Amino acid sequence: MPSTVDQIQVIPLHETFTAEVRGVDFSKPVPPQVVEQVQDAIDKYGVLVFRNTGLDDKGHIAFAAQFGPLDDNEPHVKAGRKLRLKELQMFDVSNLDLDGNVVTEVDPIRLGSMKGNALWHADLAFNSPRAGYSILRGHKLPPKGLGGETEFLDARLAYEDLPEATKKRIENLVGNHSMILDGFKALADRRPPLSALRHNRKLAAPDVFEKINPRDFPLSKHKLVVPHRTGRTTLYVTTYIHHIDGMSDEDSQALVDELLAHAAQPEYCKLIPWENDSDLIMWDNTAVLHRATGGAYLTKHVRDMRRTTSHDTGPHAHGMNDPNKPFRQGLPIKQWK
Ligand SMILES: [Fe+2]
Repeated sequence: MPSTVDQIQVIPLHETFTAEVRGVDFSKPVPPQVVEQVQDAIDKYGVLVFRNTGLDDKGHIAFAAQFGPLDDNEPHVKAGRKLRLKELQMFDVSNLDLDGNVVTEVDPIRLGSMKGNALWHADLAFNSPRAGYSILRGHKLPPKGLGGETEFLDARLAYEDLPEATKKRIENLVGNHSMILDGFKALADRRPPLSALRHNRKLAAPDVFEKINPRDFPLSKHKLVVPHRTGRTTLYVTTYIHHIDGMSDEDSQALVDELLAHAAQPEYCKLIPWENDSDLIMWDNTAVLHRATGGAYLTKHVRDMRRTTSHDTGPHAHGMNDPNKPFRQGLPIKQWK
């Protein structure tokens, strides 16, 4: 008997996480029964790849909105930031300026910010609530072979594989996440970056960021070990962590480095290439970490990537922050000075 419910196909891309999903018809609104299947798949695999979706910004937003309330650019606009993209819920993670030109060395701050994405992170860890799902679409990809892959890390398995003594040591520790540190501190050469800073750090603007004290801004508190909605447990340790409560900055950094060195071992990582314009990758920020890998395209070819981000709606969305006082750190860079 023919089924009235579309069945998606889920093809694993790695032994423990990440999968490609086929069989979703994005040419019309994705029905709730299919959304349910996608939800089951993301719970299990943490990262889902949808090739050749044909989605535009509006369709992308409509699909994403079915997985939780979406973060938007409203505070950025209110703070005076001009946007290249019209939809407030669509975040511009391209290498383009407002006129659609590729950002070059001429704009070192913006370039530095883009390079911060090369460090392992979970989106919006510096906010309260933190992010649930990110859905990233390649609107226009650079020519093949010039880089731009996105790499993911299985932060649930990385936690489960930790020695018991380490689990005990970190079980109640609270990290203070700051967006301001993302990449910049490494680019400013303040600590050895774990993510192999292949990029030319001269392109960054350390002198600008030297003047910024992250403690002057709200820090978002989340435990390093956070239960996941599936009943598993996630190592929620990112390069956004400025310090850990009760520890010196140096000891905090050493522990973050130690944990990320464990989690970033090759067996927990999966590099996913972008193949076609309109490819979509969805990931669960409460289960995996990710990073951009950069590449030869960076200052030469258009890479127009667009992202929606849903808020985590689970019991750990606000971490150790006051759930009645949500906050966001996404202010335009000029306001940090
Ligand atoms: Fe990200």
